[in-house]
Amino acid sequence: MKQIDVCFTPDLLHLHTVENTIVVVADVFRATSCMVTAFAYGVNSIIPVATIEECQKLQERGFLAAAERNARKVEGFELDNSPFTYMDERIRGENVAMTTTNGTLAITKSRSAVKVLVGSFLNLDAIVRYLKTEPYDVMVLCAGWKGRVNLEDTLFAGALVDRLKDSYAMAEDSAIMAWRLYAQGKDNLVAYMANASHIRRLQRLGIQKDITYCLQHDLYDVVPVLRGNALVNMEV
Ligand code: MLT
Repeated sequence: MKQIDVCFTPDLLHLHTVENTIVVVADVFRATSCMVTAFAYGVNSIIPVATIEECQKLQERGFLAAAERNARKVEGFELDNSPFTYMDERIRGENVAMTTTNGTLAITKSRSAVKVLVGSFLNLDAIVRYLKTEPYDVMVLCAGWKGRVNLEDTLFAGALVDRLKDSYAMAEDSAIMAWRLYAQGKDNLVAYMANASHIRRLQRLGIQKDITYCLQHDLYDVVPVLRGNALVNMEV
């Protein structure tokens, strides 16, 4: 039987072997929710980079560029890190360069995996359907916050475990923990998440609507996958 594992933060990634595993990176608030929305609205590719300097270089080469640090847009870049920014005709067919505090870093750290997918509640069902066609084990890499564990990415991991539990064995306690947490919160994720650190951070900045948007399940049929250094949308 295939296995599903959960890594709660990129700082624990060195404890896992991913060479023969599909890694699903989740940064529910908001990087991977943005990426999924961007593909749903027709973006051609997204190059995730870890640093602002790398993002600037791609911007100079003509990429539309998105940069976020501490949930704020970095000055000098065209796009911020709200999914609503990507619901825009100007991104259709574009190649985007993106750097975010945690999400793009988690993707770049996963490169040795057999495949790297981008997951969020918004494309949960598409991810599930795709994974079921693959022979590989799966690991959810939660982007967390600056090396710390967060609630929203763990809940996403639990949701994926929940949907795959009949065909995948839970590799370790982290998968069981994520699954049990999701079981507790799933009937009202918005209320369950009320005091979460990043919700408080976003609320301090007046960002409210992104929160309920990012917690919606199964809105889009897209599966972003890393090909070389760019994310593209795989047909499912
Ligand atoms: C991140 O990568 O840490 C984020 O997506 C932060 C945010 O903009 O909400």
